[in-house]
Amino acid sequence: MVVLTLNHPEINKEITMCGIIGYAGHRPAVPVIVEGLKRLEYRGYDSAGVAFVQHQGLEVIRAQGKLCELENKLGGCDAFHATTALGHTRWATHGLPVERNAHPHKDGQGRLALVHNGIIENYHPLREMLKNKGREFVSDTDTEVLVQLVSEEWSKDTTLLQAISRALAQVEGTYAMALINLDEPGRIWAARKSSPLLLGMGTGENFVASDIPAFLAYTREVIFLEDNELVELDALSWKVFDVATLKPLNKEVHHISWDLQSAQKGGYRHFMLKEIFEQPQVIANCLAGRMDPKSSCVLLPELDDLPIPEQIQIVACGTSYHAGLWGQHLLESWAKIPVRVEIASEFRYRNPLFRPTDLVLAISQSGETADTLAGMRLAKGEGVPVLGLCNVVGSSVAREADRVIHTQAGPEISVASTKAMCSQLVLLLLLALYWGRQKQTLPRETESQILRGLLGLPGILEAELPRMRGKAQELAQEYSAARSFFYLGRGSSFPLALEGALKLKEISYIHAEGYASGEMKHGPIALIDPEFPTFALAPSDDLLPKVISNLVEVQARNGRIIALAHPGFDLAVDHVWSIPEVYGPLNTFLILPALQLFAYEMAVYLGKDVDQPRNLAKSVTVE
Ligand code: G6P
Repeated sequence: MVVLTLNHPEINKEITMCGIIGYAGHRPAVPVIVEGLKRLEYRGYDSAGVAFVQHQGLEVIRAQGKLCELENKLGGCDAFHATTALGHTRWATHGLPVERNAHPHKDGQGRLALVHNGIIENYHPLREMLKNKGREFVSDTDTEVLVQLVSEEWSKDTTLLQAISRALAQVEGTYAMALINLDEPGRIWAARKSSPLLLGMGTGENFVASDIPAFLAYTREVIFLEDNELVELDALSWKVFDVATLKPLNKEVHHISWDLQSAQKGGYRHFMLKEIFEQPQVIANCLAGRMDPKSSCVLLPELDDLPIPEQIQIVACGTSYHAGLWGQHLLESWAKIPVRVEIASEFRYRNPLFRPTDLVLAISQSGETADTLAGMRLAKGEGVPVLGLCNVVGSSVAREADRVIHTQAGPEISVASTKAMCSQLVLLLLLALYWGRQKQTLPRETESQILRGLLGLPGILEAELPRMRGKAQELAQEYSAARSFFYLGRGSSFPLALEGALKLKEISYIHAEGYASGEMKHGPIALIDPEFPTFALAPSDDLLPKVISNLVEVQARNGRIIALAHPGFDLAVDHVWSIPEVYGPLNTFLILPALQLFAYEMAVYLGKDVDQPRNLAKSVTVE
């Protein structure tokens, strides 16, 4: 069988990374779905659609562009009688994000409508097979193949449940899908394989969705569906089955304690700003229950019977990768454990070498990043234990890792990750303390200074953030005309320089390069001129004299400099951004929000869409 790769030249294959929701209940379903889609927009936002049965007809309404386009369209329709509906918000990397490719998709007879998040890898042979049976296709999507396949199986004198099971048995790839049927207007069928899907159980209403905020306004009772599970639900009941055997399964119901407010903007102009300002609380939450008041040592009961690894391989993407690079410094210097940090998309195709005493540490905010998951699975396949550092309870990383430490950042909505990185850094620091204590490689004095410093950190950061924002606003005005930026750092500030540059790129679309200060003279310094400013990370650590001599080299080429530094910094640069000095590596927790706020204010000043930057998605569930 031909397995199509994502960039197969011969096909216009749609690749989605999407949010889906289904509702069966007692309320007008379409407004519930649209509200849910708004909370899933972080998963993708280039087109959206809804499907519902009304006046004996199966209606599908879709619109290209952001959700407001769909809302405008719905405003002109009679769409408010159905009490069961499906919705979808889409993010495409291939195939045009046009209306005919938007979900839901119908089968040829117009009896079924289906939404889907994932990739049907063998969609091409399936499509050919279905075409030979006389089925016609109106979109370029693999999703239309799926709905037609279910329809084909259903035409063979089976129940719809059996037809879905038989169709999914033929599918290779990933999916979270939900389906409605013209003949049973109050019912939804949904299934998952390697894409997230949850069941929310309310009173007289039930939901399926890609993520909890989609239905949290209505219920806190949740079931995390596993791979190869199929659910059938209506307003009053739900049943989970094994997709292959259709045997009913018992599932554990989880209660979600965080409220919808925490997934909303809370008075801030953007989620990103709110999330930056949440960092003091995030640090406090990450520390809660993690310090033994008697022995004043770090508690990580998740690891208690895990042997101390002889080597750690960190696997992550994007901002989580930068967190890993930062953690490497502490794990090596405090716990004396050699650490390799790998970009997950490289790691998974590199035939990495493992030793039985290794540990793979997978860092992921969402717990759904396809490459990170693939890296984890590779390690597991080699018998190497995997520790997940992950923010989303019940996510794939959390479920598949041998051990998991949750990062306690709360839901992060803004596409650009901020508070999640802060939480990852706290947990990496705790890990280094934990193993450092166990191996007795970390002086007690350093350990207790760090622990004391950590406890004081939320208060210091809380007081400093408004001042930082003011400075970021001032600098954003000054530097908004720049089309390129260098971010320079050394030692543990180097990963922060990478992260500062990434933030600026992501949300303000200004080209930025994070560089190790000492490496500048090996090429990049040729780019420096008065139009190409440098954002220098110059905290008062052992490497400061080296950083200063690198900055002098930049000044000699007429480069403008912003230096993020501690009081006492005495190089005359264009702008010194002075932040309070705390103990050793804890300074990171003040440097990071300064970088985030600078990028944020630049983007706001330039009028960019801060929370939903173009071409990006929060959770990259395709490779
Ligand atoms: C996407 C997001 C980034 C994130 C990266 C890794 O690219 O836009 O903000 O850092 O994925 O995500 P993860 O959820 O695995 O940390």
